[in-house]
Parts: sequence; C-alpha cells; structure tokens
Amino acid sequence: MNITIIGTGYVGLTSGTCFAEVGHHVTCVDNNQEKIETLLRGEIPIYEPGLADLVKANVDSGRLKFTTSTEDGVKSGDIIFIAVPTPPQPDGSVDLSFIEKVAREIAECLTPELGYRVIVDKSTVPVKTGDKVKQTVRRYAPDGVEFGVVSNPEFLREGCAVEDLLHPDRIVIGSNDEKALALMQKLYEPFVAPVLVTDINSAELIKHAANSFLALKISYINAVANICEASHADVEKVAEGIGMDKRIGRAFLNAGLGYGGSCFPKDIKAFIAISESLGQPFDLLKEVERINADQMNRFLDKIREKLWVFRDKKIALWGLAFKQNTDDVRESVAIRMAKVMLKEGARVIANDPQAIATAKKFGEFEGEIDYTPDMYAALDDADALVIATEWPQYANADLTEIARRLRTPLVFDGRNLLDPADTKAAGLEYECIGRAAVDAS
Ligand code: UGA
Repeated sequence: MNITIIGTGYVGLTSGTCFAEVGHHVTCVDNNQEKIETLLRGEIPIYEPGLADLVKANVDSGRLKFTTSTEDGVKSGDIIFIAVPTPPQPDGSVDLSFIEKVAREIAECLTPELGYRVIVDKSTVPVKTGDKVKQTVRRYAPDGVEFGVVSNPEFLREGCAVEDLLHPDRIVIGSNDEKALALMQKLYEPFVAPVLVTDINSAELIKHAANSFLALKISYINAVANICEASHADVEKVAEGIGMDKRIGRAFLNAGLGYGGSCFPKDIKAFIAISESLGQPFDLLKEVERINADQMNRFLDKIREKLWVFRDKKIALWGLAFKQNTDDVRESVAIRMAKVMLKEGARVIANDPQAIATAKKFGEFEGEIDYTPDMYAALDDADALVIATEWPQYANADLTEIARRLRTPLVFDGRNLLDPADTKAAGLEYECIGRAAVDAS
C-alpha cells in the first residue's frame, strides 16, 4: 500500500521504516529541511539499534522516501499518518497545535479527484482528538473530499523500537468509519500480532491508560522498595515473588530512581489533566508522580549521608540517558541528579555509552561537568561512583577495577545493577535501593 507519515521524529521515522520493511511504499514528510537532508544523505538523526541499516535497505529498495512536501505526501498516500509532537503545556495538558496545523495542511492538499483518504493519528493525544481532527479536515478541505479518521496509537519503546514495531504485542485501530477500518486492517496484514478494533475514543484512551499503568507499576515497586529498606527485606526478591503471579507479571517492577523519558512524565501529567477536564479526577496518578519525584531525593539523601557534603567532592556518574540503549536525555533522572550534585558544589565526571553528545547539547548544565567515553577513567580519584542508568555494561562492570580506581570505595547504585555480595567481596561500600536484607547479610 502507499502510505505517508507526516512528522519524521522518533515515532514517525521508526514506524515509516518498519512499514516499508514489511513491503509498503512509504513517504516520510517533515517540514524540517535539515532533517530531511540528513536522512537523504543516509544519516539517522537519532540513536536507535537496528534502525540505520533498515532505513538504508528500504531507501535502496525504493520503498522509503523522504520529502518536505506535504502536498506530495497527501497525493501519494492512501493512508496518511500524523506523527508530530504533542508537547506538554505548563499546566500538564497537551499542546495540540502541531496536530491541528497538520490536519489543516492535509485538508488543504486534499481534492475530490484524489479519492478516499484515511487520516491516522499516531501521536499520543487526549481522548476526543480524533473528533477535532475530523472537524478540522472537514472545515478546511474542499467540498466533495472523502476521508476517514483513525486513531492508531504507538507502543514502541526507545532502544527496542524496531523490534516493538515489527513484532508488536498488539495493534490498536480505533475508528467509527468502516472503510477506514478495512484499509487499516489491510495495512497491518503483514504483521503477526493480535489486532484490536475499537471506536476512536477508546483507542485514544488505551494509549494514556497503558502508559499510566506502566508508570504506576514502577512507582508501586519503588514504594515497596522503601518499605523493604525500612523492614530489612529485599525488593528484588519481593518483585520476583509478585511477578510470578501471571496476573501481575515481573516486567516494569524494577525498583530504582524512577521513570523518565519523553513519554511517561508527559503522559501521566496529560492523563491527570484529561481526567480532570472530564470531571473524573484521577488522584491515584498524582501519587504515582509524587513517589517518582521522591525516589531521586531519597537517593540523594543516601549519598549525602555517606559523603556528608557534596562540596569539593569528585563524583563519577555512570549514565546520562533516561534509560539503557538510547541517547535520549529528555526528563533523565541522571541529568537531574547531576544538576543537584553540581549545585551543591561537587565536580561531576560523567560517562554514558551513547548519551554524552546529547547531554552536552541538551543537558543545560551550569556547574563543572566533565565527560569521558571510558567508564573506568571516570572513577580515577573520585570520592564516589553513582550509577544512574541501567546500561548492561555497568551491570557487568569489573568490581575490582572500580575498587582500585576510586579514591574512596563508595558506590551508590540507583538501578540495583550490581550484586551486593560481590561488591562487598571486592571491598566496596555499596548502597542501592530496597535491598536492606542483602546489605545486612
Ligand atoms: C514507554 C512505553 O514503555 C512504551 O510502550 C510507549 O510506547 C512509549 O513510552 C511511548 O509512549 O512512546 P519509553 O519511554 O521508551 O517507552 O521507555 P520505557 O522502557 O517504558 O522506560 C521508561 C522509564 O521507566 C525509564 O526511565 C526507565 O528507566 C524506567 N523504568 C522502566 C523503571 O524505572 N523500572 C522499570 O521496571 C521499567
């Protein structure tokens, strides 16, 4: 099928590439000339494992194209996806101006001669946005234009986006238009995944409700971790024990510094705002946010307790990205923590396997922060090691080397990556999250 994706950000680029990979003809549109030129040169503006090879293969096969022309995209695509940003506003509600603008632009390019078009919202949007898109397109398109509107939310995780797109747990298609639903089902035929067909409002709600539930799971285990600390229990064992119940599952029960990234913090805030606007306040989610924010402060207190003061201390920081396998530092707890340490007078030397460049570009640091691509070099003469991101290379670190390089053998592990018994054997003083039972043994 011929499809068009408007907005070549994370979701647009990865989705478009994967649609091309399964055999569709895809035109990716973006109004950012520089981004399109980068892509036309074969360069990828984000770090996402496996994506660069896939983009190249599909460009070479002629199934993936890039352009700045919305008109070309609207002409060529039977199905037109909107995948533009939906940033938060100061009050937590979603700024839908990019969606509105693209809906208008699509409408202005539509003509009755083009025939029926499906307009699909892939961006994460508040429930009832589909109605507004429909209204806008109807208002700005010439008379006689035929189209259907669909909500098809995306569930990809950064760092494993290609896998999540090619082998999704489920595909959600929401529309009140039979013709649009039939075309969408045809589009997804090459994918082996259950398809859930819903009305448009339910599909929009599924996305916010799913992300909120995952964030709830993280805050839940973090609250349990704090109880474990106070009662000399081990949160890793508790998570295992809870997770063995099939109704609960072990995933997203990793205690740590809490969630960050471009999705959860924004989406939870949005869902709180949406529920309030509908007269159904969702206070449980406010508690999820509170626990999440506390998690970093509790951890910083733990570090202060051992170091006494940050001033003039050299801190080795492992991790800048908001999670492993990405260079994304948006809403990264690692960056937030570095800022606090810098503000209190520490010198921070940071390592990250992918995110040093993005941290330099977007970190907005004021104090003295240095970077090193060598995780062990960061430790030289440092007063403590702080682990803030769950990269596998940190979990597999050489503990003897850590002990040898640090000035004082203090390790604060905000992601429970290391084994407490092994750290003890290596001569390290080790603090982690919710594992008082292991610390005490
Ligand atoms: C999340 C969802 O997982 C995707 O399904 C969704 O499509 C995406 O948001 C989106 O809305 O676009 P993502 O933000 O890429 O994906 O990252 P996650 O893997 O969900 O991790 C989010 C945060 O939670 C990270 O900071 C991570 O460190 C933290 N986390 C995750 C924990 O603290 N504990 C866990 O057990 C799992």
